[in-house]
Amino acid sequence: MDYAGVKLDRSDGPSLYDQLAEALASAVAGGGLAVGERLPSERELAGVLGVSRTTVVAAYRELEARGLARGHVGRGTFVVGGAEADDEGAPFAWRGKLASGAGRLSDPALRALVGETRPDTVSFAPGMPALDRFPVDAFRRLTDRVLRRGAEASLGLLPTEGHPGLREAIGARSGAGREEVLVVSGAQQGLDLVTRCLVDPGDWVVMDRPGYLGAVQTFLSAGANVVGWDFEKADTGELGDLLLRHRPKLIYTNPTFQNPTGLTLPLPKRREVLRLARRHRVPVVEDEPYRELGFAGSSPPPPTLRDLDESGLVVHLGTFSKTLAAGLRLGWVLAPEAVVEQLALVKARSDLFGNAVSQLVATEALATDLFDAHVASIREEHERRHRALAHSLERLLVPGALSWRAAEGGLYLWCRLSGPGLDSSRLQEEAARVGVSFVAGRPFYADGGGDRRIRLCYTSLPPADIERGIGRLAGLLGEANGQTVPLASASRPLV
Ligand SMILES: Cc1ncc(COP(=O)(O)O)c(C=O)c1O
Repeated sequence: MDYAGVKLDRSDGPSLYDQLAEALASAVAGGGLAVGERLPSERELAGVLGVSRTTVVAAYRELEARGLARGHVGRGTFVVGGAEADDEGAPFAWRGKLASGAGRLSDPALRALVGETRPDTVSFAPGMPALDRFPVDAFRRLTDRVLRRGAEASLGLLPTEGHPGLREAIGARSGAGREEVLVVSGAQQGLDLVTRCLVDPGDWVVMDRPGYLGAVQTFLSAGANVVGWDFEKADTGELGDLLLRHRPKLIYTNPTFQNPTGLTLPLPKRREVLRLARRHRVPVVEDEPYRELGFAGSSPPPPTLRDLDESGLVVHLGTFSKTLAAGLRLGWVLAPEAVVEQLALVKARSDLFGNAVSQLVATEALATDLFDAHVASIREEHERRHRALAHSLERLLVPGALSWRAAEGGLYLWCRLSGPGLDSSRLQEEAARVGVSFVAGRPFYADGGGDRRIRLCYTSLPPADIERGIGRLAGLLGEANGQTVPLASASRPLV
């Protein structure tokens, strides 16, 4: 179909989305669009027609409601029926029924991180620790111990706030009382709850730029306006200006071994962030999944914002996902007691008390030395894998194709592509075809950017796999730099 030829009447007549939906429906009926054909992405079609993305989204919804198209997260929208689609027996068009809030989330990057890839893919994409070092036997012994207490004790109901022993143990490690701890199913749930409690549609949020892509999506899904604070420069003057201009509902930051840059906010900057937050009366959400993961022998990171805060304006998020395993789905929120109570009320609407066995086993893991010994061991292993990645990049890549800053902890290497016209999202697609995956930079920027950045997680792969994956990446980057330029954004076709 010739999308550029679609005529839209911009006078007072039918809405643009109605006209577009009609044009597409006629193309389906007339055979200009075949069953199975993928429609252009919403952004692409919006660009071609000079309309807003919302117009295209609404037109696609309309087609779905009529049973003419079907959207698949991460893959696009496809034509699914011809004129007969309105017949009884056509599959019910659920997407057309979505509430407006549910439809707001459009970037499939987060889902893609946990989605399926081809079986031999070397994946630098998901942020995972060295899971192959997980102490399975010791963990099984603790699980046995918990289950031997009987089903009632280990599989019964828990308070929404979490198992009291786990709240106590987490609090004790952070100088917090049990009442200041809420156990959640991962830091992501903590962030979602905090956002649901503090942010109304239209509110402003200031966050790291680049910053954790799950946070970008949580805030955008809540209907917030998100503005980035340049985390790499960490210019607190800029932060002050943003607070003054936007009067945000919260500041979100991941200050230690940050996702995706690996950088750590130094102590004076931490103090300044808190001073500004206090002055402008803005809560700070401090997300700290990587705090314990400095390389072995490195000096400890500066104190948390929560430790430095004297006025109770910090909500701190933690998780076992990056130290033990993401599959446990266990994290926590540290906040003043009244805030914990409010968060628990909201949590109970969708998650009354989380996974009891996980909570009980984690309590044991903190009480015995399983947790601390394991963290000490992966800090060493992660450093070894970081060295392996740096070595592979230096040895296998065309000189200058990629630049990066060595990490001192955490899980990620944040890289800049240097080839002419290279686009990281395009490279990501090409890389999937040759069996290597990583995360392209764009989803880490709420307000645009990242086209030349990629994030590599080096901790989840043994050195031999790291070398194999970088070998595949090197092949692609070599092609791009050899001017075949299959990856240049300018050559990207419409569909
Ligand atoms: C900064 C940050 N916050 C939260 C999460 C999500 O953690 P969880 O698995 O505990 O939900 C991640 C995971 O990558 C992260 O990097």
